[in-house]
Amino acid sequence: MNLDLNSSRRQFLVGAGLLTASALLPNPPALAQTSTIRIGLMLPYTGTYAQLGTAITNGFKLAVAERGGKLAGRELEYFSVDDESEPAKAPENANRLVQRDKVDVLVGTVHSGVQMGMVKVAKESNTLMIIPNAGLDAATGALCAPNIFRTSFSNWQPSYPMGKVLADRGMNNILTLAWKYGAGQEAVAGFNEGFIKAGGKSVRGLWIPFPNVEFQALLTEIASIKPDAVFVFFAGAGAAKFIKDYNAAGLRRQIPLFGSGFLTDGVLDAVDKAAEGLETTLHYADGLNTKRDREFRAAYSKAYKSEPDVYAVQGYDAGLLLNIGLDAVKGDVTKKKEMIAAMEKAKIDSPRGPWTMSKAHNPIQDIYLRRVVGRENKMVSVAHKALADPARGCKM
Ligand code: PHB
Repeated sequence: MNLDLNSSRRQFLVGAGLLTASALLPNPPALAQTSTIRIGLMLPYTGTYAQLGTAITNGFKLAVAERGGKLAGRELEYFSVDDESEPAKAPENANRLVQRDKVDVLVGTVHSGVQMGMVKVAKESNTLMIIPNAGLDAATGALCAPNIFRTSFSNWQPSYPMGKVLADRGMNNILTLAWKYGAGQEAVAGFNEGFIKAGGKSVRGLWIPFPNVEFQALLTEIASIKPDAVFVFFAGAGAAKFIKDYNAAGLRRQIPLFGSGFLTDGVLDAVDKAAEGLETTLHYADGLNTKRDREFRAAYSKAYKSEPDVYAVQGYDAGLLLNIGLDAVKGDVTKKKEMIAAMEKAKIDSPRGPWTMSKAHNPIQDIYLRRVVGRENKMVSVAHKALADPARGCKM
């Protein structure tokens, strides 16, 4: 099974200004609509979130490969764009997939700011969209829509339970630190809500622009404030750099560090021992020890020669969700209403554990407390069972 990102003969790489010669070949849309299902993959393949985009793509393609390379008996054709985690380019990139490539389904993305642009385009064009990472609360909140589904999390969701974990440990004064953009702000808001609700006293926030990784001045400030603990939102390459810098500054022994699990997922190889013992909350963990997860992990590592992480699971589940929708209409993507109805009722048999779709189209899922042991984010306990996002402002 060759699932290499660039292996598909028909895959067009757009966005970075790269158009393969095959893009110039005749490709009558009417014929393509009936013969293949056109999937628009809009994800980051460069920058601090590059690895996340690749893991999501791998996961999605694994779900398809497990079904013989087809969903509901139909071949898929991929149109890929590197969104560079660049919100300013999002409307143009998403519009190109919808208008020019005429994709049936948009799958993307990672960055909440880019997601905002995609949500707008998906709503205007009524294109079915599956979000395989970005937590943008509004996507399944104030901006929720019948054609928008998410297989990952809302930014509120994995952070909220960590508030209670720290309050229950008698930690009163917390300092939060995050990238100052949608995801960081909403993750911190979720944490604060959980912390204060569980009896925590005070939270103070520090911010750094995305995707800046010059942490020194902030680490000095943390050392002088001396909070009971620090809660952070960072992910991808930036998270790896933060973990190493926090360690190198000698802060680990003085001020315990916590975060949503994006801090430590997919970065443990890059940070070596610097993450040992870090505790985070997330909807996936190592050592779940279920048959489902073991089988998924074996298949993923066989196909890609690397270990899956939460992003791979979210991409895989996007494939499972789409499969459920397509099966219900025997592959006829024009039956959008029936597809949506089936996806709303979906029970996803995910490697993370089974989950269902909320009314606002966001996973209702267990959030695990995990601890880094060696190269694993080991499951410690279920921090919150079947947690549903509050979906504030969603009228659907
Ligand atoms: C987001 O921007 O929503 C985001 C990005 C990376 C993560 C989590 C959330 O790991």
